[in-house]
Amino acid sequence: MFSRYKKPSGATPAKKAAPTKDASAANTAAPIGRVEAAAAPITSLRRPLPVTDARAAPQDKERKRKERLGEIKLDLHRSLLDNLNLSALDTATEADLRAEISAITAEVLEERSIVLNREERSTLTQELYDEVRGLGPLETLLKDDTVNDILVNGPHQIFIERDGKLEMSDVTFKDEKHLLRIIDKIVSAVGRRVDESNPYVDARLLDGSRFNAMVPPVAVDGSLVSIRKFKKDKLGIDDLVRFGAFSEEMAAYLQAAVACRLNIIVSGGTGSGKTTTLNALSSFIDNAERILTIEDTAELQLQQVHVGRMESRPPNVEGKGEVSPRDCLKNALRMRPDRIIVGETRGEEVIDMLQAMNTGHDGSMTTIHANNPRDGISRLENMVAMAGIEMPLKAVRSQIASAVNLIVQASRLQDGSRRMTSITEITGMEGEVISMQEIFRFQRVGLTPENKIIGHFTATGVRSNYSERFRLWGYDLPATLYEPTRPE
Ligand SMILES: Nc1ncnc2c1ncn2[C@@H]1O[C@H](COP(=O)(O)OP(=O)(O)OP(=O)(O)O)[C@@H](O)[C@H]1O
Ligand SMILES: [Mg+2]
Repeated sequence: MFSRYKKPSGATPAKKAAPTKDASAANTAAPIGRVEAAAAPITSLRRPLPVTDARAAPQDKERKRKERLGEIKLDLHRSLLDNLNLSALDTATEADLRAEISAITAEVLEERSIVLNREERSTLTQELYDEVRGLGPLETLLKDDTVNDILVNGPHQIFIERDGKLEMSDVTFKDEKHLLRIIDKIVSAVGRRVDESNPYVDARLLDGSRFNAMVPPVAVDGSLVSIRKFKKDKLGIDDLVRFGAFSEEMAAYLQAAVACRLNIIVSGGTGSGKTTTLNALSSFIDNAERILTIEDTAELQLQQVHVGRMESRPPNVEGKGEVSPRDCLKNALRMRPDRIIVGETRGEEVIDMLQAMNTGHDGSMTTIHANNPRDGISRLENMVAMAGIEMPLKAVRSQIASAVNLIVQASRLQDGSRRMTSITEITGMEGEVISMQEIFRFQRVGLTPENKIIGHFTATGVRSNYSERFRLWGYDLPATLYEPTRPE
């Protein structure tokens, strides 16, 4: 039925290599190199391990230049601290501070008879400025819009995610002390503390980016920092369709689903695009509705006029003042919401979320961590059980089945691309089991030699359970929308 059976390349050798394993996994076919593999010794059946260029050392000359600049910077930093009036720093304007730094830099360079070209000099002053005012080495990465995530594994290893791929950046901290100083700067700005007795912390950077740090000795090889950069311009539905995250047909279906107030769960692994999807889906909500959002870190950016935003809060250093997502949710129910959007459901707030969905707050949405829709349901069941609710499993399941209408699965695939791999409706209960039907899915058919995934979005041929509701609400979707797509 699908084109993978028509494709001439790679079909037979793949069978030979894995005779019984998984007939549906067409992506296990390795079109390149398999032809020779038949004649070669046994071990060559395995693909050669990829050489990671992430660790590739920079060219020697470049490294030496960097080291020299690093030394000068250290020296200069010391001179700056000696010469700058630190207490006046907070009130100094950017221009004044920059002028001051340039002057001190010029002085020190002349004193040591060091000649730098214009570019080196301006990089140096910028880095010193970042050090004094901003977040040191992190500053350049935070300013780089192509970077999504920044992951620090100790002072000398900073990985970044660009276009869905992790790469090692050439930015480093001087040492662990330097890294700790920057972490401290970030967390103290939000009134938190991180040290041996309190070794991990969540915070939000000034620009809205999500920040997590864990310090030694719990972090064994140096502090671990993870930053999810805040995107001012969130990806909208059109962008996502253009990037191939889902198809136009899926977008039309989702528009109907959101507008007709289905309760939707976006499920996905870490960094798979759940929050982005939730944000994009919310654009289909009518402007006249009152929406309340609850998040751990306010990431959502809703376009509607009538939005109340809440951010839960962890306990402070004395263990007081916690406002949990559940507290926010309970309070939200007293605030006359038309819809409630919970950034992520991960704990006991699941109870109130399901109840809200079941009792007149139709059209509510949330995300959960799960790898497929079926797992998503199990996650919900587990969360209910862990919240200490004594309820027979069947009752929990029927509560879930009547609360949740739709599960949208977001995935980050092995080539780094993020796609909506499934849209699944929950149709009710069959005996003890929650019944579901998949309406759309991403059909993988193979892998290019460059390891890019080949595939297409398709309807499954199953008509939506809600098509009548869509029609009554003015979203009469054509029957052709549910027909499977056959790629050329
Ligand atoms: N379809 C897409 N194409 C390209 N980039 C995307 C796409 N979807 C999401 N991203 C980017 O991927 C990053 C992670 O997305 P997002 O924050 O939505 O993931 P998440 O699943 O909510 O992560 P977490 O589990 O950490 O909360 C963001 O920087 C986002 O801009
Ligand atoms: Mg998220």
